[in-house]
Amino acid sequence: MGTDFRPSGTHHWHSATYVSEWIEGDATRDDDRRPVLRRLAGLIPAAPDRPLHVLDVGGGYGAVSAEVLERWPAAHVTLHDYSEAMVSAATERLGRYGSRVTYRLADMNERDWADRLGGPFDAVVSAMAIHNVEEPELIERVYGDIFGLLRPGGALLTMDLLFPASQGLAELYRRDPTRRHNWDVRVNPADAESHLRWLRRAGFSEVDCVWKDLELGLLWALRAA
Ligand SMILES: C[S@@+](CC[C@H](N)C(=O)[O-])C[C@H]1O[C@@H](n2cnc3c(N)ncnc32)[C@H](O)[C@@H]1O
Repeated sequence: MGTDFRPSGTHHWHSATYVSEWIEGDATRDDDRRPVLRRLAGLIPAAPDRPLHVLDVGGGYGAVSAEVLERWPAAHVTLHDYSEAMVSAATERLGRYGSRVTYRLADMNERDWADRLGGPFDAVVSAMAIHNVEEPELIERVYGDIFGLLRPGGALLTMDLLFPASQGLAELYRRDPTRRHNWDVRVNPADAESHLRWLRRAGFSEVDCVWKDLELGLLWALRAA
């Protein structure tokens, strides 16, 4: 598989071999990704030292959870994923945080996935995960499920693919000389504007794209207090 991260192609998240190769490839980008993941963790609306319960949706091998645990010393993180192989890698990677982390398996495609996660949560974080459910109606439903898991005053922070919705924009992204992603740009209706609309329809009162670099973006969504 090498350096092809296939952000929008076929993934085999239930295959232990695929997952271990994917982690090996992805870990080479850890230094690149850290600033934005750190920023994501820092935007959690909370007072320092207050006990905090955070859910990491599609947490994979724990890159986002680790940033949250470091930034918020009194935080407990529930790492969610549907891949046993990923959760097993996360258990190893986050082992040093001991009982500050809980692991939960659930498939976002299933209607009752959110019922298996516990909560309510002060914040939900996520990176490169929610786009995996693909269908716009499902993404909107997942946003609604996350809204239901949050305490009033809590926020969702999700870094994910915000696709160009037209060929013209896709071409613009491809030509950008600062482009660092090695996947091809896919035209898809799930652009930044659509995500913000789905978040509002899911119940969030304040939504924003707080950072964007071509088709990668960081979305903020607040459940009113
Ligand atoms: C690209 S990885 C990102 C992992 C981690 N958030 C990170 O940034 O390093 C996507 C993750 O989403 C998980 N995932 C994909 N589809 C899912 C689904 N339907 N339900 C739950 N998890 C899913 C995969 O198992 C994988 O761990």
